[in-house]
Amino acid sequence: MADLNELTEKLSAIKAEVTEGLKALASSKEAFEYRKSLMDSKTGKIGTLMREMGKIPNELKAEYGKKVNEIKTWAQGEFDALETKLKEKEMMARYESEKIDVTLPAKMRPKGNLHPNTQVKNQIVDIFGSMGFDVYEGTEIETDYYNFTALNIPDNHPARDMQDTFYLSPEFLLRTQTSAGQIHVMEEGKLPIKVISPGKVFRSDDDATHSPMFSQMEGLVVDKGITLCDLQGMLNVFVEKIFGEGTTTRLRPSYFPFTEPSVEVDVSCFQCKGKGCKLCKGTGWIEVLGAGVVNKKVLEDCHIDSNVYSGIAFGIGIERIAMLKYGINNIKLLFESDLRVLDQLDD
Ligand code: DAH
Repeated sequence: MADLNELTEKLSAIKAEVTEGLKALASSKEAFEYRKSLMDSKTGKIGTLMREMGKIPNELKAEYGKKVNEIKTWAQGEFDALETKLKEKEMMARYESEKIDVTLPAKMRPKGNLHPNTQVKNQIVDIFGSMGFDVYEGTEIETDYYNFTALNIPDNHPARDMQDTFYLSPEFLLRTQTSAGQIHVMEEGKLPIKVISPGKVFRSDDDATHSPMFSQMEGLVVDKGITLCDLQGMLNVFVEKIFGEGTTTRLRPSYFPFTEPSVEVDVSCFQCKGKGCKLCKGTGWIEVLGAGVVNKKVLEDCHIDSNVYSGIAFGIGIERIAMLKYGINNIKLLFESDLRVLDQLDD
């Protein structure tokens, strides 16, 4: 390169080429690659300029170096500015593509809930638990003795016909009532007693309000001076908590071999508040459970001195409570596991 004019021309050509080249760059990656290729000290159009210094006469060297540096600085500046612009554009594009539309309805995930029978059972356990009751879980297979005889229902007693029993053998059966658990608890001999006993029971019975398998919650309190008033007081707490404030009970005379006196317990209609509606068949009252004062014979057979101790007992049908609470008129709905039904029954 003989003189600076030639160099100036060359640099102008490079500058023009780079200016055009910059326009074609669409991404920061392309800009980075292009810059690298231009500045490469062996092959790059700008990078190699310094190596040509050798061919320059000494008196022109300073001027040459200055011009080469100028174009280098110019190019760096152009690339820096372009790269900043492209990076920003790319960032905005990324933000745009990753944007979350918070107005879109969320994906609904199905939510599971406890079976209504379990919910009601848990609620009853909680209510009596808060009154100091322990939980005793009996067995579903019982002997004839615990299910009947010890409950003052001897062989050939007409009360056996009140419940159609599934016998497994002359001695063993599927319990027809959780009352069988009362005997086990009393036989343990620890007094006083205050237990509830939830569990499945079985009877050969099948219609809209009866199922061959259903659940009960037995209650038993044995202590000194226990009376029917204690029973009603506890049941009043129970019905208020399960059916709502203001619900109360009334006792009607009834018959169970293992209680004397025996009562049928009605709750005031929580739907019409006693005015009379379809649910309470216009009476203002709904029958919910059987109860009574533990028969002295039952206490004595369990070696409890009936002159010192007395007891009260009650048997609640869990499905019956669930049906009343949730307005279900067919017990089968509680056993068919139809999610369209069960999804609606969540407290
Ligand atoms: N075991 C009775 C039944 O299944 C219900 C019952 C009535 C239980 C009176 C009791 C009671 O503890 O005192 O029909």
